[in-house]
Amino acid sequence: MPKLTRPHARFHASFLATLAEFRAAGPLSDWAARIDHEAVRAPSGFSAYIDSLHARRTPDSVAAEGPVPESSLFWSEGDEFLGRIAIRHRLNSRLEVMGGHIGYVIRPGAQGRGHATALLLAAMPVAYALGVDDALLTTDPDNHASRRVIEKCGGRLVDQKPGHCYYRLRTGPGA
Ligand SMILES: CC(C)(COP(=O)(O)OP(=O)(O)OC[C@H]1O[C@@H](n2cnc3c(N)ncnc32)[C@H](O)[C@@H]1OP(=O)(O)O)[C@@H](O)C(=O)NCCC(=O)NCCS
Repeated sequence: MPKLTRPHARFHASFLATLAEFRAAGPLSDWAARIDHEAVRAPSGFSAYIDSLHARRTPDSVAAEGPVPESSLFWSEGDEFLGRIAIRHRLNSRLEVMGGHIGYVIRPGAQGRGHATALLLAAMPVAYALGVDDALLTTDPDNHASRRVIEKCGGRLVDQKPGHCYYRLRTGPGA
């Protein structure tokens, strides 16, 4: 059964397969586009990438508009990477417009099987424990799969602007 996992170097092979799936699927998702596909090909490059994910929990900068603390978790089965979720511990003005507290992605080869819904449901208690009890989630209005995932997890549409839908999701027990 898939579960939330700490990012780890043991996912290297399936992570590279995931990036190949994204390249084959067409325009890269925002998440895949931010990764240096060449750099993570070598085990040392992938380890550095994993370390950078862990380091984001405690960014050096405390500037109001600098990076916010972010916890990344993988969704995996055995050594198979299926997707990832990032929980930002707080918002800055950029994330208030786009990105919100929580972002997720499921690899193309595993989409349409309920993974994103299960991933978000599993991550809600983690977000709550991090102090994110009323999470902001933003999505493109045309991203119907993501909107459906958020709504199935209990998210309420609270605002809509050109190019952006804003949802609020209570993450606590009984939410
Ligand atoms: C959005 C994303 C995470 C969904 O992952 P997934 O594992 O396929 O999602 P699930 O299988 O849990 O659920 C998808 C739901 O959307 C529905 N859906 C999918 N495509 C849809 C469409 N075009 N219109 C309406 N509903 C759609 C599915 O039917 C399903 O709902 P159902 O269970 O009621 O049938 C995945 O497509 C992805 O990683 N996309 C790229 C990154 C991204 O957009 N991330 C979200 C940023 S806000």
